[in-house]
Amino acid sequence: MRVFVTGASGWIGSAVVPELIGAGHEVTGLARSDASAAALAAAGAQVLHGTLDDLDGLRSAAAASDGVIHLAFKHDIAFSGDFQGAADADRRAVETIGEALAGSDRPFVIASGTLLLAAGRVGTEQDGHGLAPAVTALGSGPRTRAATAEITLSLASRGVRSSVVRLPPTCHGDGDHGFLATLVGVARDKGVSGYIGDGSNHWPAVHRLDAAHLFRLALEKAPAGSTLHAVADEGVPIRAIAEVIGRHLDLPVVAVSPDQAGEHFSWLAGFLAADSPASSALTRELLGWQPMHPGLIDDLDKGHYFHNPSA
Ligand SMILES: NC(=O)c1ccc[n+]([C@@H]2O[C@H](COP(=O)([O-])OP(=O)(O)OC[C@H]3O[C@@H](n4cnc5c(N)ncnc54)[C@H](OP(=O)(O)O)[C@@H]3O)[C@@H](O)[C@H]2O)c1
Repeated sequence: MRVFVTGASGWIGSAVVPELIGAGHEVTGLARSDASAAALAAAGAQVLHGTLDDLDGLRSAAAASDGVIHLAFKHDIAFSGDFQGAADADRRAVETIGEALAGSDRPFVIASGTLLLAAGRVGTEQDGHGLAPAVTALGSGPRTRAATAEITLSLASRGVRSSVVRLPPTCHGDGDHGFLATLVGVARDKGVSGYIGDGSNHWPAVHRLDAAHLFRLALEKAPAGSTLHAVADEGVPIRAIAEVIGRHLDLPVVAVSPDQAGEHFSWLAGFLAADSPASSALTRELLGWQPMHPGLIDDLDKGHYFHNPSA
C-alpha cells in the first residue's frame, strides 16, 4: 500500500515507518521541519512538507494514498497550556482526512489513549471513547479528543475502514522522552524515587516496537470501526516502577502523599495517580497481535533510561 503517515517523525511514528517499509509498503510522511523531513527521508519515506493545519495538503495526500495512519498531535502546545487548541487541530485533521477517504473502503488508523478508560476495573476495547466520567472531569480538551475518536469510528458507516488504536500512558523503549523518562528525571531532581500514596495503582504499558506492529496490522486488516488496544502489560504497579528507578539511580524509594504529589511531580502527578489497567485480549484475538519486546519492568532494567542524563 501507499500509506500516508502524519506524525511519522515522532516517537511512535519513527517506529511505524520502518515497520511499514519492512513489510513492503510505501510511506509518505508529513514533516513540519527540515529536521523531520531529513529523518523521514533517511528512513526511506517520501516527504510531504506541511503542518497539521494545512488541510488542503492533508486532503490531497490522503486522497492519493491507499491508507492513512494519523499520529501527529501538537503535544508542544497541549502540554504548555493549550490542550484544547491541540485537540481542535487534531479534530479538523481527522475530519479532513475522513472526508478524503469517504466511500473508498480504504483504511484510516488514528492513535488515542487508554488512560482513565474505566474507573475501578480493567478497561477493554469495548469501553467507549467519550463517556468515562474521569475523562469528562479533565476538561474540554480531552473531551474533544475523545469525540475525535468517535468521529473516526463513525467513518465506518461512510465507507472508510477506520480504526482507533488506544495506546497506554507509557510506550517505552530506548530513546523515550515521555512520561517514564519524565519520572526518571523527577527522581534525579528530587533525590528520591517517589510514588503516590501506597503506589498500588497501575499503568498499562507497551514497547514502542510492539505498538508499531499493531499500527501495521490495523492498517492491513482491522475491520471498519474497530477499537484496538496496544497493551502488552495489563497493569504495572507504580510502586514497582519506582523501585526499579530507585535501584538504578541508587536513590531511596519513598511514598509521596496525594497532598504533596502536585508539588513533587508537577504536571505528571495527575497521570501518575491514575489507576488505569487495560486489557488487549480482544485485539490479540482479532488481529493475532502478540507483543514480542520486553515488558515495562524488564525494559527499565535494561538501563537505557538511566544512561541519558537529560532523562
Ligand atoms: N507515546 C505515548 O506513550 C502515547 C500514549 C497515548 C497516546 N499517544 C498518542 O499517540 C500519537 C503519537 O504519539 P508520539 O508519542 O509519537 O508523539 P510525539 O513523539 O510527540 O510525535 C508527535 C508527532 O506529531 C508531529 N507534529 C506535532 N505538531 C505538528 C504540527 N503542527 N504539524 C505537523 N506535525 C506535527 C511531530 O513532528 P516533529 O517531529 O516535527 O515534532 C511528531 O512527528 C499522538 O496522538 C499521542 O497523543 C501516545
